[in-house]
Amino acid sequence: MIKKINFKNVPSHLAIIMDGNGRWAKKRNLDRIKGHIEGIKSLRAVTSTVMECGIKYLTVYAFSSENWQRPKAEVNSLMYLLEEYLNLELPTLIKNKIRLNFIGNIERLPESPKKTLLNVIDKTKEFNSLCLTLALSYGSREEITTAAIKMAKDIKSNKIKIEGIDENLFSSYLYSRDMPDPDFLIRTSGEKRISNFMLYQIAYAEIYFTKTLWPDFSRKELIRALKNYEKRVRRFGKSEV
Ligand code: IPE
Ligand code: IPE
Ligand code: MG
Repeated sequence: MIKKINFKNVPSHLAIIMDGNGRWAKKRNLDRIKGHIEGIKSLRAVTSTVMECGIKYLTVYAFSSENWQRPKAEVNSLMYLLEEYLNLELPTLIKNKIRLNFIGNIERLPESPKKTLLNVIDKTKEFNSLCLTLALSYGSREEITTAAIKMAKDIKSNKIKIEGIDENLFSSYLYSRDMPDPDFLIRTSGEKRISNFMLYQIAYAEIYFTKTLWPDFSRKELIRALKNYEKRVRRFGKSEV
């Protein structure tokens, strides 16, 4: 039975830039990949805490379109770890009724992890206690550019009209079409940047930066961040009442 942690208000959609695995490993004289392995443990802890808090959408930045430029050995290890994570996680996703989803250009993924990913998505597609989205081979500029190309094609083939384009229609061309915008964005590791993550969708997200490296980010740290979110006043451009 999943315990409930009560907050006055929690984000419906929490997004996390999971950063700092490499530095965590370096500090311990370990290979970077050990940091990524440790990072997966944090993802598991965070996912279960998110469920306890009643958050409905969790999106995690796992691999950016720019991360393809890393050394081949690191990229290969990350792809291997992705597939292993998906295989090991499937029973837990089913048990907890979590739907897995992705955003990103997964055509660039190697065949094997891509197949596993699509299989896990299919096996969990009816679930709705939490939607866990992995941003994989994800880049926001690529997402927006691809959306613009698809819209241009649909205009050309008379599927849509220029006059019918508004923010809602535009959003429906993004990878994130089926989810609400993130309300809360956490970035670990002390970097204060967005690194091409959900640029369109985080227009009004509350942002939280912590120096904690992702492998050290625990249930306790997440609760601290959510307590901070609870206190925030979101105005969306309106005057304070
Ligand atoms: C985040 O950790 C995970 C990925 C980007 C895949 P990093 O690998 O970026 O770790 P640092 O930032 O070098 O410490
Ligand atoms: C952002 O982290 C991408 C992920 C967490 C997957 P990076 O480590 O790639 O970002 P930069 O290079 O420091 O901006
Ligand atoms: Mg990094």
